[in-house]
Amino acid sequence: TESNQFCDAGIGHGESACGVSSSSSKILIKGGTVVNAHGEEVADVYVKDGIIVAVKPNIKVGDDVTVLDATGKFVMPGGIDPHTHLSFEFMGTETVDDFFNGQAAALAGGTTMHIDFVIPVSGSLTAGFEAYEKKAKKSCMDYGFHMAITKWDEVVSKEMEIMVKEKGINSFKFFLAYKGALMINDELLLEGFKKCKSLGALAMVHAENGDAVYEGQKRMIELGIFGPEGHALSRPSLLEGEATARAIRLAGFVNTPLYVVHVMSIDAMEEIATARRKGQRVIGEPVVSGLALDGSGVWDPDFVTAAKFVMSPPIRASGHDKALQAALSTGILQLVGTDHCSFNSTQKALGIDDFRNIPNGVNGIEERMHLVWDIMVESGQISVTDYVRITSTECARIFNIYPRKGAILPGSDADIIIFNPNSSFEITAKSHHSRSDTNVFEGRRGKGKVEVTIAGGRIVWENDELKVVPGSGKYVEMPPFTYLFNGIDKADAEYLSSLRAPVKRFKSTD
Ligand code: URP
Ligand code: ZN
Ligand code: ZN
Ligand code: ZN
Repeated sequence: TESNQFCDAGIGHGESACGVSSSSSKILIKGGTVVNAHGEEVADVYVKDGIIVAVKPNIKVGDDVTVLDATGKFVMPGGIDPHTHLSFEFMGTETVDDFFNGQAAALAGGTTMHIDFVIPVSGSLTAGFEAYEKKAKKSCMDYGFHMAITKWDEVVSKEMEIMVKEKGINSFKFFLAYKGALMINDELLLEGFKKCKSLGALAMVHAENGDAVYEGQKRMIELGIFGPEGHALSRPSLLEGEATARAIRLAGFVNTPLYVVHVMSIDAMEEIATARRKGQRVIGEPVVSGLALDGSGVWDPDFVTAAKFVMSPPIRASGHDKALQAALSTGILQLVGTDHCSFNSTQKALGIDDFRNIPNGVNGIEERMHLVWDIMVESGQISVTDYVRITSTECARIFNIYPRKGAILPGSDADIIIFNPNSSFEITAKSHHSRSDTNVFEGRRGKGKVEVTIAGGRIVWENDELKVVPGSGKYVEMPPFTYLFNGIDKADAEYLSSLRAPVKRFKSTD
């Protein structure tokens, strides 16, 4: 390969930028502030063959190494998005972003891994897994899978075991909403929780009361409210609070850890706060739409604009956003996802006459890192180390892939971003990398910019240009019994011994 002095740019920009194809993959990131969840230091980072091999000051290398100057910038673990739906067949259509272009969008925004939800095919986990394996073949960044459980029988129970022991899945999502589609009842939820616990898999819930949502939808239709605002009105935060509380109590009854996805309201957040205060292991995941937006969007007089904000649970009224931010800053909520589930205007128009037919979902996979920086760090609510924790490290810990992911440490995967806090970002559908023609964060701008993304040791985003290769992303298997399970057995033993304590009774005699 050519050496850096022949490049037009002052700093080495990697062989690919010069059109030289390369499998050699040595990169030195010089002079940046390396940030991990546990601390920050000025250091160089040396990457070889997809792995971080050294993190220390003044690393000297030969001229076969691509050198990136990060002076004055933050060098951080690439983002991990715990919640996405790429190539998701839902509500009669399929999301526009697939495992290649959705991931490319992620990389342009500094996210280097995501965990997507495998949806069973007619209840079959095996068929669902195979379908998602196919969808993910073209991946250009690393990914993992959660799996949804949509029915219950002996086969599903056995398949859960196979998924955990052979397929690298350590989390299952239960939908308490979407009646008639993905929704399950409390009996199934309890069976699922018990099975999760026995396998060391993390139970996740979509917490809205689906029966009550159904009732709320009928109420709106009877009132003649057919537009996108009917979506929000039909499923108030009360119903999110109820389902969150129910899932928490049932997980507590089984004594298994619980992960509440897309926490959108104060109601749900307060339930999580209360449970955690009592010592229960509950993780709460807000998503960037819930943190960055208020619910006014669905009231827009333009249908296309209003419909793009339709997601479940709904984006709540102003006030919920600030409360979720505060909860994130104080550790009541632990990590940020996106629920990236992108539909274009034509697809959203399936519900032009009836909000119940608007495909549910918003974007975020490309915007998360910038918006969380802006909302949480620029605003002064959290430190840069906490930023790394909530966008990357905590996700890696919860899903048991730390420190391979979520850290800049020798031996970790080379998933790295160079972030310039003095630059700025701007979001618009005109230039985003999603295939959708709309963006719920349209027009947002703020300080800070992901200037370089390195994924699996390759420079994939630099100078506002993507260099992505289909098939270069790897499936990341996630082992069971994450840290959330530590000590669960001891609590169980204590509970059992308390039950077996002999009760002394006097025989009643005449
Ligand atoms: O509206 C949403 N959230 N769509 C994606 C499916 C889900 O519930 O996560
Ligand atoms: Zn060059
Ligand atoms: Zn959901
Ligand atoms: Zn989702």
